[in-house]
Amino acid sequence: MTAEMFPKEKTIDLRKKHIGPSCKVFFSHDPIKIVRAKGQYMYDENGVRYLDCINNVAHVGHSHPMVVKAGAEQMELLNTNSRFLHDNLVQYAQRLQATLPEKLSVCYFVNSGSEANDLALRLAWEYTGHKDVITLDNAYHGHVSSLINISPYKFHQLANAEQSKSVHVALSPDLYRGNYRQDHPDPATAYADDVNNLIQKAHEKGHKVAAFIAESLQSCGGQVIPPAGYFQKVAQHVHRAGGLFIADEVQVGFGRVGTHFWAFQLQGEDFVPDIVTMGKPIGNGHPMSCVVTTREVAEAFKNSGMEYFNTFGGNPVSCAIGLAVLDVIEKEDLQGNALRVGGYLTRLLEQQKEKHPLVGDVRYTHTRTHTAPSITAGLSRGWCGQHNASPHCQPWTSSAPTVTGKPRRSSRTSAT
Ligand SMILES: Cc1ncc(COP(=O)(O)O)c(C=O)c1O
Repeated sequence: MTAEMFPKEKTIDLRKKHIGPSCKVFFSHDPIKIVRAKGQYMYDENGVRYLDCINNVAHVGHSHPMVVKAGAEQMELLNTNSRFLHDNLVQYAQRLQATLPEKLSVCYFVNSGSEANDLALRLAWEYTGHKDVITLDNAYHGHVSSLINISPYKFHQLANAEQSKSVHVALSPDLYRGNYRQDHPDPATAYADDVNNLIQKAHEKGHKVAAFIAESLQSCGGQVIPPAGYFQKVAQHVHRAGGLFIADEVQVGFGRVGTHFWAFQLQGEDFVPDIVTMGKPIGNGHPMSCVVTTREVAEAFKNSGMEYFNTFGGNPVSCAIGLAVLDVIEKEDLQGNALRVGGYLTRLLEQQKEKHPLVGDVRYTHTRTHTAPSITAGLSRGWCGQHNASPHCQPWTSSAPTVTGKPRRSSRTSAT
């Protein structure tokens, strides 16, 4: 099979004619046509090699032979839905659970980060009987209607009237640009109190909070690393109000933070979310994702009486691929690699910070690997596989620190 079917101009013409105009291409003035990829490199139709600094999905490298082999072998044997018993499904769930705190033991397999977050909301609504959701400023959680509603990054483009009255936007816990910064005596408490204020305001209007949702560290929202203890305090407030804590690990999970497999673990062992959503790296490019929760939440969802069926979620091919990804992460010590490469890049970027007053912040933690490489505000436009127009989005590689420009005071935005 040839990699290129049409000359590039014809591909562009056909795309304009048949693909929805809101689906953007990278570098629209001169789009790149990628025809193959291997490891960290992508190749265009003329064989020109690109170092892939944009991809936040090809976690173990493009076309990894172990992943390709696992998918192909399973496809030769069987692919079907999860209403049949299959060992790949239960084996994957067991392997995944081994990476998580014990109480996060029940999995739902879906096909994208958006599906995972949408299901997480349904679980929270069903378990709590409440409706309202608290989200962080600048957050992005997915493209379906329920998630546009809780994604300020998207809904700020809507008129106020179109924004949901059941969604409340909390301050992003940003120690560099946010309302409470490094010089604040207790930013974790201050930012968590902001969440509590939103809960109280919702109560005053007769609303009840079903969930607080946040990326374990905000990726699309600007590579914001929350101060230690913030999630614990938020969880206390949210639980007291009868709500659940949803950690979105769609971008930041699977060892990218280096010291831990899950980014929420950066907050300390005493913090365990009620629901964790996963996506992007889980299948190394194969559409697969997962929601993990507690037995109590899962039982409440079942007791609603409605069956949960997902045609493709958890199919034997996806699970074979997911298992191969976990094997590669382990075999090639990719979590350790993230830590090492992240440390190396951090040192280089710190040197640049010394030289260039334009550079405000190199963002990383000594305890995390997938310190996200972000170069923003004045240095570059954001880079992100999904959000290339965002000044907040940053490239995801195996690990890298975040560089950001000088701060301004940000003001609160709210959907309510
Ligand atoms: C943090 C986060 N959550 C959820 C999603 C949605 O994932 P998907 O595009 O697979 O639906 C994204 C996608 O960019 C994301 O960055």
